[in-house]
Amino acid sequence: MVPYRQGKPAADDAFKLSSNENPFAPIAAVLEAIADSSVNRYPDGAATTLRNKLAERHGVSPDNVQVGAGSVAILAQLITAAAGAGDEVIYSWRSFEAYPGLVTVAGASSVRVPNTPDHRHDLLGMAAAITDRTRVILVCSPNNPTSSIVTKSEFDAFMAQVPATVLVILDEAYAEFVTDPEAVVGPPLLATYPNLVVLRTFSKAFGLAGLRVGFALGPQYIMDAARSAAIPLSVIEPAQRAAIVSLEHESELLERVAALAELRDEIWNALVEQGWEAPRPHGNFLWLPTGDHTAWASEVFSEHGIVVRALAPEGLRVSVGERESVDKLLSASQEVVLKLRTESAQRALD
Ligand SMILES: Cc1ncc(COP(=O)(O)O)c(C=O)c1O
Repeated sequence: MVPYRQGKPAADDAFKLSSNENPFAPIAAVLEAIADSSVNRYPDGAATTLRNKLAERHGVSPDNVQVGAGSVAILAQLITAAAGAGDEVIYSWRSFEAYPGLVTVAGASSVRVPNTPDHRHDLLGMAAAITDRTRVILVCSPNNPTSSIVTKSEFDAFMAQVPATVLVILDEAYAEFVTDPEAVVGPPLLATYPNLVVLRTFSKAFGLAGLRVGFALGPQYIMDAARSAAIPLSVIEPAQRAAIVSLEHESELLERVAALAELRDEIWNALVEQGWEAPRPHGNFLWLPTGDHTAWASEVFSEHGIVVRALAPEGLRVSVGERESVDKLLSASQEVVLKLRTESAQRALD
């Protein structure tokens, strides 16, 4: 197996737009909460206060909430609990890079359904891929790395085709950045679908990526299964405290999210004007389909002081970061698109 690859670190004068992080520094209340933690003690392994807060926030019981050291930890718990040797896990591809490894480590097999030509989930194809070996289906909206969404009506039509014995994990790591009213929103659907689990994280919108804390909402027996597959005590006290304080300051943090979503749309409009056929973005990142030129394009961005995630041979994922990064980003994208367009015009002539 290939080890999980992290976004490249940036040189001092470059912008790191390769890990879909939040560029804002933590709010003062979070820093205070972290400083107050008693790190000589083990954390509360059940994350009781945080689970209570999340339960209240989403109108469910604390039994319906699981907290993990990042939502990726809960993904691992759920896949390990639900699938093993001989079982299949379906997901769209490209999607989040951690999915293949988590499935393999669980001993199960990946069934990858290629994205549609417009870089979205092929939900009909995913439903058609269900067999009696299917245990889990991962739906990622907005999808990392293409930043596309699944709409509510698409999701409902998809769920109607999924047997109730197959676990569907709706990975909404970037939910807070979505402004499209047609997009699926997981938590309100939990009452409708008994085989649905919704994954959320404090890493992106709430800017706590370095503390590792995420959560899942779903039926109690599934959350209990995740708990039984978890490494005990891995959500540290500073992370729990920071998450609680973040919920208490949610509106302030969501103002930052709104500013990032606005900047994202501004960048996307500029890219489209430059001639990019980039899908409309819904997360805090954009997708540039650079195809076979991905490695070269990534170098061009690097030369302009922008570190991006190169996912060859499909494209580049570029996070929305500091406003100061935008000019550099757009001059790199201009250089790349000019070359791509010249080449495709040349190919058309040949
Ligand atoms: C789609 C998706 N899901 C889950 C995660 C995991 O986030 P975390 O473990 O930080 O909560 C990421 C992180 O990049 C992601 O892109």
